[in-house]
Amino acid sequence: MSRIHLLPPHLANQIAAGEVVERPAATLKELLENALDANATEIHCRWSQGGSTLIEVSDNGSGIEPEDLHLALSRHATSKINSTEDLFKIGTWGFRGEALASIAAVSNLTIRSRTKQQPIATELQCQGGQLEGQRSVARGFGTTVTVRDLFFNTPARKEFLKSQSAETSYGIQVFHRIALSSPSIDLILTIDDELRFHYKACNQRQRTIDVYRQAWKIELPEKNLVEVETSSGELKLHAYLLPATHHIPSSRGLFFFVNRRSVKDKLLLQAVMAASREVLFGSLYPQGAIFIDLPFDGVDVNVHPSKSEVRFRNPNHVFAFIRKHIEKTLAAQSPRWSGENANHEMGVRNDFGTQIQSTFYDQAPSNSISSAQPSALLNLINNSATQVAGQPPNFTNLMDERALQFLGTLKETYLLCSDKDGILLVDQHAAHERITYEKLKQQDWKRSAAVKLLIPIQLELQRDLLDLIEPQFGVFLEMGLGIERLGPGRLQVTTLPALLMNADGTSTLNLHRFFQSLKVASEDLPSSQWSHYLEKELLAALASQSCHSSVRAGQRLNEVQARSLLNQMTKTDFSGHCPHGRPTSITLSWSEIERMFKRRV
Ligand SMILES: Nc1ncnc2c1ncn2[C@@H]1O[C@H](COP(=O)(O)OP(=O)(O)O)[C@@H](O)[C@H]1O
Ligand SMILES: [Mg+2]
Repeated sequence: MSRIHLLPPHLANQIAAGEVVERPAATLKELLENALDANATEIHCRWSQGGSTLIEVSDNGSGIEPEDLHLALSRHATSKINSTEDLFKIGTWGFRGEALASIAAVSNLTIRSRTKQQPIATELQCQGGQLEGQRSVARGFGTTVTVRDLFFNTPARKEFLKSQSAETSYGIQVFHRIALSSPSIDLILTIDDELRFHYKACNQRQRTIDVYRQAWKIELPEKNLVEVETSSGELKLHAYLLPATHHIPSSRGLFFFVNRRSVKDKLLLQAVMAASREVLFGSLYPQGAIFIDLPFDGVDVNVHPSKSEVRFRNPNHVFAFIRKHIEKTLAAQSPRWSGENANHEMGVRNDFGTQIQSTFYDQAPSNSISSAQPSALLNLINNSATQVAGQPPNFTNLMDERALQFLGTLKETYLLCSDKDGILLVDQHAAHERITYEKLKQQDWKRSAAVKLLIPIQLELQRDLLDLIEPQFGVFLEMGLGIERLGPGRLQVTTLPALLMNADGTSTLNLHRFFQSLKVASEDLPSSQWSHYLEKELLAALASQSCHSSVRAGQRLNEVQARSLLNQMTKTDFSGHCPHGRPTSITLSWSEIERMFKRRV
């Protein structure tokens, strides 16, 4: 080893570049953010061959004075902060003063800029961090930064890049995120000399629609975008969500912005997942753009050079706030299943509906939990059946022409109905699962005493799963689930909530499957949210299991049972979706039908 010495600036810049601009898309992001900070209203980006040969951003912003131009390319040179206090109230996109220096160190960069005061623009050329030349050129007001041959002098980094098409798709994502965050800016992206995206200046709602249309080719009628705006003190939420029909099995259509800055934050994603579990149980994700605004001192954006991570001062508050309001919104999107008329009509036979309940369970296959050993759970679901109304069903109500008519069962799975609006198909299993889940939710089941198991149940589970849940054992116990860790991968269940207990003292729930299902969803969940989360997971598992043993697809319901199921749906929250997010019914309106038959256009 030789003596300690300071790194020469070009080497220090190359090292910094590794963090700031680890790939072409990150370069595009930095250049776009500089243009936004310069108050540009029009920005044109050009990109070629995965960003390896060309990344260029031109703006009509404030420009840089000629004598400052070389400073813009020096490390830790910025016009955006002056003091330590500034660091804690960052209102600009950039502030670290290292992006241009980093990019210049690993590419051939040209910057050309003109302020309002200058009659002509000045251009600097830079090769691998070395200033090569300066000249005057013609240009309107604003700045153009042209980056060629990115990573030409850092071959190791170049090797890490993916295919050109993969890098281009990262670049496009960056562009769309900026587009979502800055609707008032006119933005163009040209890829390999072809104009690919053009977002015209507009309001936030329109921009969100434009991005989902252009970027993901989602046909989205404007009125269908769901908008939420709410606040709690200085914490503000403004979200635009796509309707439930656009929920997808990954989070790639969900974008978070904190103080307009696009962030990738696990806490926020968890909050939305927790919210959507109510309607979707985390198996599907909503799509949309979620904007959170809070005072600068409530969030630290100086966590990572890419500035796409943030740290909240009060993460639990932020989590609970987002969860609550997104949950409300999603719930409103999945309203009770019936229309007004159906409600009116079906409501007539409330008593009748409860009377039929018992028949469902009598029909369950004999190997199921429901018939052989009526558990506390099933008693609980069934107990309404004891309040038999004794009245024979009054079918004449159904003849009311405005009402929902039950026409029959198709493929032993779908209940076919019609009303004045159109034809309705109801998935009997999905519907029943939601009804059961909502019923369970209403019970004060946590207070039902925990019962000690005669023979504790031992489970083999993954070690990291146990590491994850061990700090939450107290929360499990609050729900009557007494558990202990016996070894790195061994769990012992000692008590169960009465609700989960069969008459013969065995568990209603497949415990192994239940514990395994916790893993994916619960990583990064704040401690304060565990109780809420666990309760929902338990109920979801129960609902799903008890339904598998009751009304299944392929099991024919008689007319009375079918009507009862429909009746219960009209009285159940969230009955538009089963707990796993599948719709419980689909509608074909009369007008759609008429269009199909070309009776009208
Ligand atoms: N497009 C632009 N228009 C006007 N000024 C710019 C532009 N790009 C960069 N600058 C100037 O160069 C400085 C350095 O940019 P950068 O290295 O990205 O650091 P930062 O954005 O963190 O300040 C900025 O502070 C700004 O003054
Ligand atoms: Mg910058």
